[in-house]
Amino acid sequence: MLSSRHAIAFTGAGISAESGIPTFRGSGKDSLWSRFKPEELATPEAFERNPRRVWEWYVWRMNLIMKARPNAGHEALAKLEGLGIIKAVVTQNVDGLHQRAGSRRVVELHGSIWRVKCSNPACTFRAGIDEPPEEIPPRCPSCGHYLRPDVVWFGEPLPQDAWGEAVSLAKASDAVLVIGTSGAVYPAAYIPLIVKEGGGTVIEVNVAESSITPYADIFLKGRAGEVLPRLLNAVMEGFLK
Ligand code: OAD
Repeated sequence: MLSSRHAIAFTGAGISAESGIPTFRGSGKDSLWSRFKPEELATPEAFERNPRRVWEWYVWRMNLIMKARPNAGHEALAKLEGLGIIKAVVTQNVDGLHQRAGSRRVVELHGSIWRVKCSNPACTFRAGIDEPPEEIPPRCPSCGHYLRPDVVWFGEPLPQDAWGEAVSLAKASDAVLVIGTSGAVYPAAYIPLIVKEGGGTVIEVNVAESSITPYADIFLKGRAGEVLPRLLNAVMEGFLK
């Protein structure tokens, strides 16, 4: 890490697990996709069929996230950025915990649960929110259609600006710290591959092997909230020498 010129972090739901936010896949019966059907909740068709049900699920998640706090893993990443060791965090998470921990450059590939946008393709209304809407489904103040969470659902493209920025960061990187992701969802999972294909080093932190592990140069097995602070300490010792 210390010898790298340009390193980034690539994170998934596992980094927020220790903050009490359920992951999507993974072993536990608590993981989201073992309790809910994605096609009933996280698709544009699901929203068209039953916007109230989709909103109820997001309000439930928003309440969980509001109660949660960034953990030692998020905090270590913010400090690594403060030291100039990593340049940015590219995340698949929509919870905003990286920003709350103090990370400054956060690229959100799958959007944010703390933003809404109009579901009418002809309307450009977008807004940030800091708590769940009082009435669901909320209406667009501009055109009257339903507002939807500004997140990426199955079958939808990633936001172009975020994707473009993530690819440029990955192309410029000689190291990527991959934390708490199954690496199962594309195109997001191309980010560490782009670094690898450019000759960079892939360092993975995960409690279990993932789709990234076969090509990771270093696999640090353990919880993000424990491994990342240790990594930060090791980097700081090297830094002070
Ligand atoms: P997943 O739920 O697929 O994977 C979570 C990963 O975190 C697994 O590899 C776990 O082993 C690991 N993990 C769990 N607890 C951990 C801990 N304390 N420390 C370190 N690792 C831990 O989550 P993502 O890979 O983020 O997309 O999922 C990718 C995308 O799939 C999500 O962004 C979401 C979902 O469908 C959309 O909604 C578009």
